[in-house]
Amino acid sequence: MNSFKWIEAKSYNDMSRLGAELFIQQLQEKPASVLGLATGGTPEGLYEELVRNYNDGKITFEQAVTFNLDEYVGVPVTNKGSYHYYMDEQLFQHVNMQSNNINIPNGNVTDLNASAEAYEALIQEAGGIDLQLLGIGVNGHIGFNEPSTSFTSTTHIVELTSSTREANQIYFEQPKDVPTHAITMGIQTIVQAKKIVVLISGASKQEAYDRLRSGDISEDFPASALHMHSDVTVIFTDIRNTQFSQE
Ligand code: F6R
Repeated sequence: MNSFKWIEAKSYNDMSRLGAELFIQQLQEKPASVLGLATGGTPEGLYEELVRNYNDGKITFEQAVTFNLDEYVGVPVTNKGSYHYYMDEQLFQHVNMQSNNINIPNGNVTDLNASAEAYEALIQEAGGIDLQLLGIGVNGHIGFNEPSTSFTSTTHIVELTSSTREANQIYFEQPKDVPTHAITMGIQTIVQAKKIVVLISGASKQEAYDRLRSGDISEDFPASALHMHSDVTVIFTDIRNTQFSQE
């Protein structure tokens, strides 16, 4: 048994709408919210929804502060595969975020450990994350916390597994361009967020979904750390279907 709120969405678009609603509500209740953001294919629709709601005047990002989960090591921010580039394309360039309120780990420095420590400190200084968005890797990773990462980890440098590098190859021109390392919030950093929303879409995530749903807690399966949190909403869709529905 676990205390997650499980919501089955009718389609990818429905999942994106339901997830966006939680962010809209958060921003309406507290315009200066600290938001934890994720990249990847899963949240693209959610960002589209947020941009739509911003354009409709329903939300403003003027006072919002954001912290992204992770970034690759050694990938320039102007590279299309970088998460800086992704965030700008998906959200930041379309809304009124103040650039000094945007935080993404810096993987382009010589002292990576110092960069990780500074990032962790920045999150604490901002008062912690109010609402954290997560996707889940096929191997159960959250952020870039690969299986066997300690549940007490804070922001740190990781070596990516081959399954993660394979899954993320689509964002790079050639397999050899896929980075080997990343800087990521730790599992402890993530579970310290006040509220967490996890989006899971598509049959490739079936095993991870089943394992999360089982409620078993193990460091072999990073997402299971979320069972130790008291306010997690999981919105899922198309787990058993091979066809990706767009509604
Ligand atoms: C992204 C991140 C990752 C992804 C996960 C799923 O910032 O931290 O944990 O959420 O790899 O990626 P997609 O959505 O591309 O399947």
